[in-house]
Parts: sequence; C-alpha cells; structure tokens
Amino acid sequence: MAKVTVKQIADRKQERLPVTMLTAYDAPFAALIDQAGIDVVLVGDSLGMVLLGLDSTVPVTMDEMIHHAKAASRGVTQALLVGDMPFLSYQISPREAIRNAGRFLKEASCDAVKLEGGADICPTVAALVKAGIPVMGHIGLTPQTVSQLGGYRVQGRELASARTLLEAARALEEAGAFSLVLECIPDELARGITESVNIVTIGIGAGPHCDGQVLVTHDLLGMFPRKTPRFVKQYTSLAPQIATALDAFKKEVQEKKFPAAEHTFFATAELRQLFT
Ligand code: KIV
Repeated sequence: MAKVTVKQIADRKQERLPVTMLTAYDAPFAALIDQAGIDVVLVGDSLGMVLLGLDSTVPVTMDEMIHHAKAASRGVTQALLVGDMPFLSYQISPREAIRNAGRFLKEASCDAVKLEGGADICPTVAALVKAGIPVMGHIGLTPQTVSQLGGYRVQGRELASARTLLEAARALEEAGAFSLVLECIPDELARGITESVNIVTIGIGAGPHCDGQVLVTHDLLGMFPRKTPRFVKQYTSLAPQIATALDAFKKEVQEKKFPAAEHTFFATAELRQLFT
C-alpha cells in the first residue's frame, strides 16, 4: 500500500469517509497502528503526560518531540505522520516556527505538523504553508494553554466563545491548514464548524459530526494510569493484563520456576568440567 498523502486526507471531506487518527510515540506502537490501517499517526505532545510522567504538555521540548517522532517514523510505512509542535516552538516568530517545523520533516520524516491556536497563529500557519510545510490546526481545548482556559473543560459553550472558535476555524482554513483538530467542544458547534469549512475536521471530545476522530492510543487501550476524560472510549483494558504478567514473572523468579529448560542454554560436558 502506498503512503497516505495530505491530499488524500483533505479529499476525505468530499468522499465522506471518516479520517482515523491515533497517537504513537515509538516504533512498535506506530507499526501496530500503521498495520491496522489507521490514516494518520500523530506524534502528540501528549507524550509528556503519557510517557514522561509530566502533569501537562507545557514542559515538552522540541528535542523530545524529534526523538519520539524519529522513533515513530521507523514504524510507519503507510499512515500520514504528523509531528505535534510543542509549547513555545512556534509562538515566538514565524521564522522560528519554520525552523522547528522543518526539523519534524527533515530529521523525523514527518509529513506535516500540528499546532494549537486560533486566529492569532494564522500568520504563522500561512508562513509554514508558504515554506512547504503542511499544517494541521487544533482549536477548542488546547492543552498547551490550559491555565488560560481555566482548566481541562469543554470550550465554546457560550455564544461568544463558540463564535470565536468558528471564526478561528475559518481563519485557519484561509491561512492554508489542511485539517483541523476540534477538541472538547459541544457536538452542534463541531457540526457547525465542520459544515462551515472545506477542510477536514478531526474531533476528540467533539461528538460524532466531525470528518474524523482522534484518540490517545494509551487511553483507548486502557494503559494510562490516570483518570481519563469522559470522551475517551476504552476499547480494551491492558493495564490489568500487564499487571498480571508482571506479577507472574515475579512469582516464577522467586519460586525458581523461570527460566525453565526451554529458556536455558545448556553447557557442554567439557565446559561443565571447568567447575568440577
Ligand atoms: O497531543 C496530542 O495527543 C493531541 C491529540 C489529543 C489531538 O494533541
């Protein structure tokens, strides 16, 4: 199968075939997701919380993102690979944004970058697109600025904030973004935005009317130890299975049942003489 392209994702709007996107931060998970035929692998800055044990995505650095994006890229053969630009890697100036976004493409073989923000970051989005870097926008609940938003809560519930998000979506389309993540907004606002723009919307906590859906893979697999938001559907619960396996290993080592004969390389008779 050939690699998924930005144009193919953009065309899904007309084709009405929902886009699937999942996060991956390493080669094995990226390969599993790729082999499952998921359209987009996102190396999200959620890795700060999911992998690095941080309380928010704010401290995540460009070098950490590039390290994980490089690993994920080694597992991807088909999916579109999107690198998530971390806090302060694109806000300071369009020049700095191009330099940092370019690292995702040049060093980590990403196909596109994602960045959070509304109308304010549109000049940066336009500069990136002009430089040849495809951009996925991200509005609604934007975790990098969660303290400004008053915490992890649904955005756009009031008319004024809903209007601001609708205008942001239109402005991001105008600036050249090829797709847009809508995070944690009411279903009808997501529907209105999806119908008002010609670019693909990908929802997370934004109801069923988006052009696609994204989840954090560790959440859907039941591997993230912290409380997950209401919008997460846990398709399986791997954490208890992992705990059972770890416990079995501990017991078998303590009871000297592991390693068994089939896990052991036996010494030759000659070698055994060395210790007799
Ligand atoms: O960082 C991330 O994983 C994300 C998704 C939740 C959209 O931004």
